[in-house]
Order: sequence, then structure tokens, then C-alpha cells
Amino acid sequence: MNTLRIDEGTRLLVLTGAGVSAESGIPTFRGSNGLWENHPVERVASPEGFRDDPSLVWRFYSQRRAGAAPCEPNPGHLAIAEWEKKLGDRFLLVTQNVDGLHRKAGSQRMVELHGNLFTTRCTRCERTPFEDRLEYPEGTVPLCGECGGALRPHIVWFGEMLNPRELIEVGEFLQRLDTRLVFMAVGTSGAVWPAAGFVDGARKGGGQTWLVNADPADNADRFHHFVQGRSGEVLPKLVTFE
Ligand code: APR
Repeated sequence: MNTLRIDEGTRLLVLTGAGVSAESGIPTFRGSNGLWENHPVERVASPEGFRDDPSLVWRFYSQRRAGAAPCEPNPGHLAIAEWEKKLGDRFLLVTQNVDGLHRKAGSQRMVELHGNLFTTRCTRCERTPFEDRLEYPEGTVPLCGECGGALRPHIVWFGEMLNPRELIEVGEFLQRLDTRLVFMAVGTSGAVWPAAGFVDGARKGGGQTWLVNADPADNADRFHHFVQGRSGEVLPKLVTFE
């Protein structure tokens, strides 16, 4: 397997998707018996679905909380947290995952692009989104203790905008001029934008691009390097620091 050598003049942006958590026991979304095989996206992960049946949406997310709560980071998460320790501000992690495993592994310089499974917010008042690990009983919709409005998972649903401040942070990291860029995507099918387009931004800026994935992803041919394999096995051996 070819290895990625990182020296003092290099910065690393890592984008992760559901594949990086697969070895921790969390189901991915697409492919055989992916999450979306059993749950139509529109009904459980969209504003329209929440409007039509909020208790169904809360049942779906309570099930995902129950599934993710006992899971532990795997060697892939731990390797990424190690890279951050070595690189400091020459490192940024952008994850599409909401399972909290990168944080559990020690990652801090991180953008959770699609929100977090264990954070809840109010649909009515401006209350700050808050940590919430509760699994709500079937048929219930939790209400805000401050305004009585319906609470919702702090997740970016299909059709919703990403946090512009987070996209600016990623853009600024991609466009820095002080170091050479390496962009690495791990465990993502490249099916969802704008994350699927980060590789183009990296290449436009002259960055080296790597994909680590169990199967060729939709946008695999846009990467300079493709390492096929399980991230828990590949990542701990992939990077050498000079
Ligand atoms: N190691 C590396 N890659 C893996 C592993 C593994 N152990 N297991 C699975 N994969 C790969 C699959 O081959 C697939 O290409 O991870 C990818 C997971 O793709 P998806 O299930 O589409 O997940 P993701 O790319 O994260 O989806 C992006 O779409 O559903 C929305 O908001 C949701 O964040 C999600 C976004």
C-alpha cells in the first residue's frame, strides 16, 4: 500500500463519512441493508417528514441513539485523532457523521457538518441546541421546557442548509497559502453535496487528494490516490510524518 508522507510544510483536511464508523458497529446509509433501505429518507430525515409525523422521526432518531450510544471508536477514528495531535493547526477534520465517535476518540479540531445525534434543539425559540441522550418512548414528541415548542434532533436534514460558518471554515482551510494541502476522504460514497465536492476544491488549489474507502465511491476517479480497504485497518498504517 502506498503511504502518505506528511512534512512540516503540509496541512491535512480529512472528510469522513459513515464508512469510518462501520467497524464500530454503526450501519452506513447506502449499499446492502443500509439505513435508507429500511427508512425512506423523506419520512424520517426531512423537515417535511418531521412536520407530517414528528413522533415517527423521534422514533427513528431514538433508535439511532440507542444503536450508537454503546459504540466505541475504532482504530480508524483513533488514527485520525493522532494525526490532529501531531499536526495541530495544520489539521482539520470535517465529518458527515453524527454518531459522536470522532469526539469520543479525542478529535477536537472538527466540524460536524450534518449535526450531532446527541444534540437537540427547539423548533420555536432561540434556545441554544443542548446535549440530549434520551431515547424518547414511541409516539411522543418532546416539548421545549422554555417555550413549549416541539423539540427536534440537531441534525441537518435533506433539503436543509448546512451551517454557513462551518462551510467558510472548511473553505478557509482549503485555501490557506502557508502550506501544501492534502485532502483525504474516508468512508464516504460521495453521494451527498457539498461534501462530495470538497475534492474538486482541493484539486483546484493544487492539493494532493486521497480516498480511503471499502468500495470505489461515486467520485473515486476525482482523487489522485485511492486506497481500497477498511478504514480501521488502512488508516493506522497510511500516514508517515517527516
Ligand atoms: N472502511 C472504509 N469505507 C467503508 C467501510 C469501512 N469499514 N464500510 C463501508 N465503507 C464505505 C462504503 O463503501 C461507502 O462508500 O463507506 C461509504 C459509506 O457511504 P454512505 O453509506 O453513503 O455514507 P456517507 O457517504 O457518509 O453518506 C453521506 O448522506 O445519508 C446522508 O447525511 C447522511 O452523512 C450522510 C451523507
